[in-house]
Amino acid sequence: MRTSILEARTVLARHVAASLYAIGALLGAMLLPALAEAQAAGEWRNAQQMFDATCAYCHGAGVADELRGRDLPPEYIGVVIRHGVRGMPAFRPSDFSDADIAALAAMIASSPKPEAPKKKGEVR
Ligand code: HEC
Repeated sequence: MRTSILEARTVLARHVAASLYAIGALLGAMLLPALAEAQAAGEWRNAQQMFDATCAYCHGAGVADELRGRDLPPEYIGVVIRHGVRGMPAFRPSDFSDADIAALAAMIASSPKPEAPKKKGEVR
């Protein structure tokens, strides 16, 4: 018996629905750990965790300049974190409390330059 166009369409629709469901489940599985790891002010373990989870995404990944080992004053780093500067996003009090920023800025200011710092635009 030949499959009617209607039946073929139904099969196709089911197939598409199943695929979409699978993609949705996959995306959900990928996003959940990221959301579970998302932190807010008052939830950070320490400055290193703040740096690794936020700043290193750009600074240290070749998107923006390396910050460590440059003798940047902690006050300056703190102002940039809270207010942003050009391409640098500002972080809200719900992201980092003032105490979080003070700890993070002090950590960055006193950190040595990494072994092979990446420059902006450098991909290895
Ligand atoms: C989305 C990418 C991105 C993230 C995330 C990010 N920055 Fe930046 N940051 C930039 C860019 C781009 C600049 C350069 C801005 C400009 O001058 O145009 C910058 C500049 C800076 C500067 C000034 C550097 C200088 O040479 O004077 C400081 C300090 C800084 N960021 C600190 C931080 C800290 C601390 C964090 C984490 C809380 C952070 N940034 C997260 C993109 C980012």
